[in-house]
Amino acid sequence: MPIIHDLTHNRKKSVDVEGSINMAEILLLNGPNLNLLGSRETNYYGTDSLSSITESLSIKATKAGHNLTYLQSNAEHTLLEWIQTAPKKGTSLIIINPGAFTHTSIAMRDAMIAVNIPFIEVHLSNIASREIFRKKSYFSDIAIGVISGFGSLSYHVAMYAAIEELSRLEI
Ligand code: DQA
Repeated sequence: MPIIHDLTHNRKKSVDVEGSINMAEILLLNGPNLNLLGSRETNYYGTDSLSSITESLSIKATKAGHNLTYLQSNAEHTLLEWIQTAPKKGTSLIIINPGAFTHTSIAMRDAMIAVNIPFIEVHLSNIASREIFRKKSYFSDIAIGVISGFGSLSYHVAMYAAIEELSRLEI
């Protein structure tokens, strides 16, 4: 029997008294070694740095009327703290590349389920076409969707999907 996680109750944007939609908070989380983007295994991850990617995502979010907060950490406990505090910060949607924690972190999976914030899983490389241990993701089955294999474009596709998803939220 499949377990269905109810992702509905946090899927609300705030509205002001006139009923117009306020900006949504989007959180972009990046896991271990993604600070090395640009120089790390460029055959898989390309040559764009994480700061150049986050900068242009931030511009995209702002243009759509939203706010992007981002964090990269090599430490699982730091990522867990950011996930756990996301509801208090009013986060409506998370875009996450858990890096190698994709394939190992039951703790981060549990945290995503606990906060019940809809999220999009992103990978630069196509994890399904690499080593066997990368085929398993602890996030994919509870994500809204997964974007994998388009290099830095994966993040842009995720932001596009996030903006579309936010526009469909109940208000
Ligand atoms: C990655 C894929 C993971 O398997 C790897 O450990 C990473 C990056 C990607 O973006 O393709 O660090 O998440």
